[in-house]
Amino acid sequence: MAPERQPVAVIGTGYVGLVTAAGFAELGSPVWCVDVDADKIARLLRGEVPIYEPGLAESLARNRERLHFSTDLAPALEHARLLFVAVGTPPTYSGDADLSAVHAVVAAMPVSDHHALVMKSTVPVGTGQAIKRIFAEHGKGSFAYVSCPEFLKEGSALEDFLAPDRVVVGDDGNWAGDAVVELYSPLNAPVVRTDIASAEMVKLAANAFLATKISFINEIANVCEETGADVTEVARGMGLDQRIGGHFFKPGIGFGGSCFPKDVSALKQLAGNSGYHFQLLTAVIEVNELQKRRVVGKLQKHLGSLVGKRIALLGLAFKANTDDMREASSLVLAGRLQADGATVSAYDPIAESEARKLMTGVEFAGSALDAVTGADAAIIVTEWPEFAALDWEAVRARMAGDVLVDGRNFADRDAVQRAGFIYEGIGR
Ligand SMILES: NC(=O)c1ccc[n+]([C@@H]2O[C@H](COP(=O)([O-])OP(=O)(O)OC[C@H]3O[C@@H](n4cnc5c(N)ncnc54)[C@H](O)[C@@H]3O)[C@@H](O)[C@H]2O)c1
Repeated sequence: MAPERQPVAVIGTGYVGLVTAAGFAELGSPVWCVDVDADKIARLLRGEVPIYEPGLAESLARNRERLHFSTDLAPALEHARLLFVAVGTPPTYSGDADLSAVHAVVAAMPVSDHHALVMKSTVPVGTGQAIKRIFAEHGKGSFAYVSCPEFLKEGSALEDFLAPDRVVVGDDGNWAGDAVVELYSPLNAPVVRTDIASAEMVKLAANAFLATKISFINEIANVCEETGADVTEVARGMGLDQRIGGHFFKPGIGFGGSCFPKDVSALKQLAGNSGYHFQLLTAVIEVNELQKRRVVGKLQKHLGSLVGKRIALLGLAFKANTDDMREASSLVLAGRLQADGATVSAYDPIAESEARKLMTGVEFAGSALDAVTGADAAIIVTEWPEFAALDWEAVRARMAGDVLVDGRNFADRDAVQRAGFIYEGIGR
């Protein structure tokens, strides 16, 4: 175990909060975790882990003695000076970020000259200044504020926390910024020390750029389908150019998840609210919406009308190695298929219980083979490793039809075709 370091608090014990708590505990800090969800805190106190994230359960168990969970802020304020905020900032109907949870945390802070809020939640540029103004108006002007956006990826979140590409710290040059830099120092990551507004913008711009990269390669994939090129070859040939880079250059059925859709939309709204029309992001969002629906056209090409057809979804989570269903492409896909008269069966190794809360009329199966039984077509929606190892002859034998749509270009195309399938990838 690492030697004991300064205590910290984490407010909000969701995907980011729990991983942050586990990460700082790994580095040696006692961590005081707070959440308004009493049920979640009760489960954490019992040693249960409310979300799936590789390595997280083990890390929380390993650091049990350093981790404290409560619905009460008081112990966190008593023990820690740095209070990391990791509450949700979901989209509102207008596309702006909903900051009500952030403001609830701000309102709960006492007058103090030795505490700091360290914002990990993704917030619009200007939020830090607004919070500092609120503090000042309520006689809490000496409460320090730091922006420290989080860049972890669900599915490898703890790994990303412990080996970040960079740590961004936006502050006013006071004790709290130095303390955050010191806290992260064992990770030996490049530190971008900057002002609060720029730190806030780094996060939004980084997500907007990554989303743009995905929509770009999806559009190239769509043109490849019309012209006979293979997008996987094209992406490989482009990605080796160091100015472009091969990461995140995988065509598919559109991006989902709790971050990209809402952060792209939040940046677009932020720009609009400041009088600037961010045209590129408007296109990125539209391309992504259309991409989720293109799969339906691929099915219709082979099956004609989908009325009365049975379609199996392999994978439901928005990506592999997570149970997060927020904005998952599978939700749009299942809804479209059902609207066109199809029956939808589905299998996901981890996300089923989350999916059940969000999907109606879908028949959930306990395995990929059960899901495809009697299906006219199957669609790989999530790139779960177990789908790469599927015995396609066995899958074909269970199905009524012979269409496989590989929404992630993930399966071995030759093996699928050898098993007698019509293979439909994305852009190939
Ligand atoms: N999930 C990701 O991959 C990711 C990555 C980077 C940044 N972010 C950002 O981090 C933030 C958190 O995301 P998440 O996915 O962890 O959200 P989440 O919904 O999983 O967790 C949020 C937690 O905050 C709790 N909460 C709400 N109001 C509270 C309050 N007033 N006091 C204490 N707890 C409160 C909720 O009960 C919940 O447990 C968001 O702003 C998100 O955009 C997320």
